[in-house]
Amino acid sequence: MSDQREFWNERFIKEGYFYGTEPNRYVASVIDSLKSPQRILFLGEGEGRNAAYAARAGHIVSALDASEIGLTKAAMLAKKEGREITLIHCDLELWNPTESYDAILCSFLHLAEPLRSEVFAKAIRQLEPDGIFGGEFFSIRQLPRNTGGPKDEALLYTADSLRSLLELQPCEIVELCEIDTELNEGRGHVGVASVVRMKVIRR
Ligand SMILES: C[S@@+](CC[C@H](N)C(=O)[O-])C[C@H]1O[C@@H](n2cnc3c(N)ncnc32)[C@H](O)[C@@H]1O
Repeated sequence: MSDQREFWNERFIKEGYFYGTEPNRYVASVIDSLKSPQRILFLGEGEGRNAAYAARAGHIVSALDASEIGLTKAAMLAKKEGREITLIHCDLELWNPTESYDAILCSFLHLAEPLRSEVFAKAIRQLEPDGIFGGEFFSIRQLPRNTGGPKDEALLYTADSLRSLLELQPCEIVELCEIDTELNEGRGHVGVASVVRMKVIRR
């Protein structure tokens, strides 16, 4: 069992949805901008709040995560909406994508380098031309706050480090900013938090 799988299974086996059942606000705004039906893949989707929201909007949704317990709960959440989603149980260390997507989205997927660059490059490669890769992540400025996120600097993001990574990829940056925002996401993310928001288009 990989470290990620064990860590997240232990968290997600508890009753309820740790980050709630409503989508991350930024990810929801990106989903809302897509004309359905689009093929959307969610990376590190956990218990499926974004995936269920996209499925409800009529998109064709896949959710990838290292935690099979998270994915089982994701499928249940989508089912409550009368929708089915495709589950991909996989550690991103071993991700070897073959499908293409119109959008690949994520919220709070915290990967250290070099895995971060490898996964971002693979995600952008799997997009159709003009496809969207986007997400919200905790910024390095979140470190002293207790409103969510990892306490390991190597797992946190800055807009500048993401820009350097993205400039090497066949994409155009349409949004990349670091802001403070109020999160109200289940038990996991509550209060003012420093986040990085990213949206790029495949070129
Ligand atoms: C902070 S949770 C966020 C879950 C979900 N995106 C949300 O916002 O509700 C991070 C998620 O990323 C997944 N994850 C972290 N590292 C991973 C890896 N190497 N491979 C696959 N999934 C990973 C975890 O299993 C967990 O579900």
